[in-house]
Amino acid sequence: MSTQPTQVRLAFGDEPTTQMNITWQVQSALEDPVVEYGPTAQLGMRVPAQRRTYPYETGIIYHARLVNLKPGERYYYRVGSAKGGFSRAYSFRMPLNRPHDFHFTAFADHGTTPASVQNSRNVASLQPTFHFIAGDLSYANGRQPIWDTYLQQLEVLASRVPTMVCFGNHENERIGDQRIGYIASLTRFPMPNDGKYYYTYRISNTQFVAFNTNEPNDTEQLEWIDKTLAEARRNPNNRWVIVFMHHPPYGSTERRGNNERIIRTFVPLLDKHRVDLVICGHDHLYERMYPMRGGDAPIKSGNRYPKGKGTIYITCGGGGVSLYNLMPQPTPWTAKRERTYCYLQVKVPVRGSLVVEAFRGDNSPIERFEIV
Ligand SMILES: [Fe+2]
Repeated sequence: MSTQPTQVRLAFGDEPTTQMNITWQVQSALEDPVVEYGPTAQLGMRVPAQRRTYPYETGIIYHARLVNLKPGERYYYRVGSAKGGFSRAYSFRMPLNRPHDFHFTAFADHGTTPASVQNSRNVASLQPTFHFIAGDLSYANGRQPIWDTYLQQLEVLASRVPTMVCFGNHENERIGDQRIGYIASLTRFPMPNDGKYYYTYRISNTQFVAFNTNEPNDTEQLEWIDKTLAEARRNPNNRWVIVFMHHPPYGSTERRGNNERIIRTFVPLLDKHRVDLVICGHDHLYERMYPMRGGDAPIKSGNRYPKGKGTIYITCGGGGVSLYNLMPQPTPWTAKRERTYCYLQVKVPVRGSLVVEAFRGDNSPIERFEIV
């Protein structure tokens, strides 16, 4: 049984400019599991790791949260134990804790295909402040060893870029007749607000809010979304409010179309708090709406939109697992759509426009638009 660390991954802690979650897995338990870290590859500091366990685990999952890190600093780290051996040394850079230009990347519906791996490499090469996977991660569907394959493949990205997730329908798992829910994902992906499937974090002038659209009847979550978006909008330091959620309300995917349940449950909250941008998946393709308010798009042309005119929804479900077909006709609000693997790069400046660039899996551009 190997003690060699695998599936090494990063995610922000509750305070993204000073805390980092580090998680990995081994086959047999370690004596004194630890993360060693420091400002150079010589390291110098250490924090003990804790085991995270769930009833269907496939190995020993360890986790440590580094705290009191310096904003803007690069840190080197390795995980393991003195007796069992260490991983290679990786590094990451903490976000600054003041207004600054930054960029992040995103996609959804990831999986374990060659296209999935290519897409992880695509976004890693852009060196984003973080990457977001908007649900439907491994497609384990109850087969827990698929999570190991997935997380090992994800390491190329997640060991150096904080990789944040929200949950899709495929994270709500069953094993045979037994519903196990989100336990595998909640255990394997420590995020801010650990133990819940909704959380928020703030970088520079932007509040990011992530939640779980599989649970429209979770009133606690709905109240949290309402309160969190209201606070985000009240904060004078926030220029942008950006949401990640799995199911898109609007779309023209074959046999799917618009999602009335999402339109009824979540869209009124996004409208109410004038969310700028919503990044979704679920439909395995690329589709982007004009700014929406109250179920319609006031502007239906161009690619530069005044801030505050509506919420722009993007479906970037071409993360790699497979592709779906489009209906012959787009929705009345569709600005761009294509059956393709895809990823997003979003550039958030201190001043000026928010710039969204969508790319295909082969890195060719799909489109670029701005909120000005
Ligand atoms: Fe989905």
